[in-house]
Amino acid sequence: MKFGITSLLSAALLASTAVADSFSWERLEKNNSVLVIVDIQEGLFQMVHDWDPIMARHNMLAYASLATVFTDLPVVMTSSAEVGPNGLIPQEIRDWYPEAPLIRRNGEVDAWDNPDFRAAIKATNRTQIIIAGIVTDVCTAFLARSLRAEGYSVWAVIESSGTGTPSVRDIANAQMLRAGVNVVSLFAVFGDLMRDWRHVPGAAELYGWIDQWMPSYSYVARAHKNAKLNGTVLPGQDGLPE
Ligand SMILES: *[C@@H]1O[C@H](CO)[C@@H](O)[C@H](O)[C@H]1NC(C)=O
Ligand SMILES: *[C@@H]1O[C@H](CO)[C@@H](O)[C@H](O)[C@H]1NC(C)=O
Ligand SMILES: *[C@@H]1O[C@H](CO)[C@@H](O)[C@H](O)[C@H]1NC(C)=O
Repeated sequence: MKFGITSLLSAALLASTAVADSFSWERLEKNNSVLVIVDIQEGLFQMVHDWDPIMARHNMLAYASLATVFTDLPVVMTSSAEVGPNGLIPQEIRDWYPEAPLIRRNGEVDAWDNPDFRAAIKATNRTQIIIAGIVTDVCTAFLARSLRAEGYSVWAVIESSGTGTPSVRDIANAQMLRAGVNVVSLFAVFGDLMRDWRHVPGAAELYGWIDQWMPSYSYVARAHKNAKLNGTVLPGQDGLPE
């Protein structure tokens, strides 16, 4: 049988699709995951230009605060060249987790190359690693790929990492996807950790976090509460369809 170039290309495409789909669908479990804060440092923050700085700070802090409400989540923090230009992890984050391991790397670009960092991850006994950091294409992506190579499942939060340009971010995220990383939004991680609004933590415990970090939903909730408690239907509104 002869294979034309078209069928060879089709076979190659099929093979690459099979590779891309070869990792199995897996849900994030709050009892099996760990929140990893990678090089979210005041100096490195100056390299973030793919998001507006206000949004970048907001989404990094929102990410880092997840374990303040999902209290089953262990936290591992790491920084690079902290006493050099890369600077400190912001005070807010360090104050949230005074007991969490903070591995200060003095050279390794990929946190996985640092034995203390590897030990800190292994000590959690968790196999699902949630990560975000600065910069997306180096600190986040290098570690995400190393973790995948070690057999961990990885969730990389899109808007809580930052880098120089949107195109660099997008390629870094695509590269992580090819390595089987779950590249997801912060709300996706929040939703999977909570799983059900009736769980604990669920609606009763988490609306405060939503109010602080997700105003587009909390302002709806505030308005709904106010309408329920104090609202009235104005003339003209009453004729609107439901
Ligand atoms: C985590 O909780 C789920 C139920 O939500 C359970 O099926 C699973 O065995 C638990 N995993 C660990 C590591 O405790
Ligand atoms: C991890 O597992 C080891 C061995 O089973 C155990 O000694 C250790 O206490 C566990 N650590 C945590 C944080 O659960
Ligand atoms: C709305 O109603 C609640 C409950 O009656 C009341 O405590 C609150 O002061 C009211 N808020 C406003 C803005 O009127």
